[in-house]
Amino acid sequence: MRVLDGQIAVVTGAGRGIGAACARAFAGAGAEVICADLNDPADTVHAIGEAGGRGRAVQCDVSNEASVLALFEAAAQVGPLDIAVNCAGIIDERPLLDTSADQFDHMIAVNLRGSFLVGREALRAMNGRQGRVIMVASDLAYYGRETFSPYVASKHGVLGLVRSWAKEFAPEILVNALCPGPIDTAMLAAEQMSPEWREKELAIPLARFGQPEEIAQMALFLAGPNAKYITGQGIGVNGGSIMP
Ligand SMILES: NC(=O)c1ccc[n+]([C@@H]2O[C@H](COP(=O)([O-])OP(=O)(O)OC[C@H]3O[C@@H](n4cnc5c(N)ncnc54)[C@H](O)[C@@H]3O)[C@@H](O)[C@H]2O)c1
Repeated sequence: MRVLDGQIAVVTGAGRGIGAACARAFAGAGAEVICADLNDPADTVHAIGEAGGRGRAVQCDVSNEASVLALFEAAAQVGPLDIAVNCAGIIDERPLLDTSADQFDHMIAVNLRGSFLVGREALRAMNGRQGRVIMVASDLAYYGRETFSPYVASKHGVLGLVRSWAKEFAPEILVNALCPGPIDTAMLAAEQMSPEWREKELAIPLARFGQPEEIAQMALFLAGPNAKYITGQGIGVNGGSIMP
């Protein structure tokens, strides 16, 4: 018996990085995983199938309401939803004085509106039953960082959603945020982030980037049978980057 046997999970941002690792971990634990991403998450579904698991690909833009509704309609065709993990997200390093209102709006649309839409539809699908909703925030949900303020604001907002939903949907549905520190994904790759910031990211007690699988293991724990007394929390998996 695997811990998620017979369960149905939606994972957004499942095309790569932390989302792909969560999707693979959940499928490995027995869940059927609806893998959603702006780009076709076929590679993740293929990897799940190769490992003997069950996954389906849905293309979805989490900032678009119709697209998110279509995702949850597709999930409903599979069966009653048990777990949702929202990993879709973007980052942008830019001095405030060079940041346009459109750039701010885009960040908020994907990271915060996307969290709102995915969370709302997941909670609608689970309403009246047991369920687990996991939003991926960041250690930057707790403090400020120069040249990243729209991202930081979006992640502070995600924690606000999680803390409120945890109260609104207790005791049946548990809602938590994962707050990763620096994780070795494309988000931290050179084209996304200056060498100076990559260097600063390593100045943490554990002095290395985390692996996406290390976040996925915490997501699996939060989704599983041993996390029944955890809700409304931001769970740090961060190499000691912050100690709130
Ligand atoms: N990598 C890190 O250091 C780190 C640290 C803290 C928090 N996070 C958060 O973890 C989450 C996953 O990040 P990652 O490191 O795996 O990044 P990533 O860039 O490797 O993956 C993000 C995925 O989200 C998808 N995506 C982007 N916009 C989307 C949209 N509008 N609709 C649907 N999918 C969309 C991308 O296509 C991609 O597959 C993000 O929310 C990020 O903010 C990452």
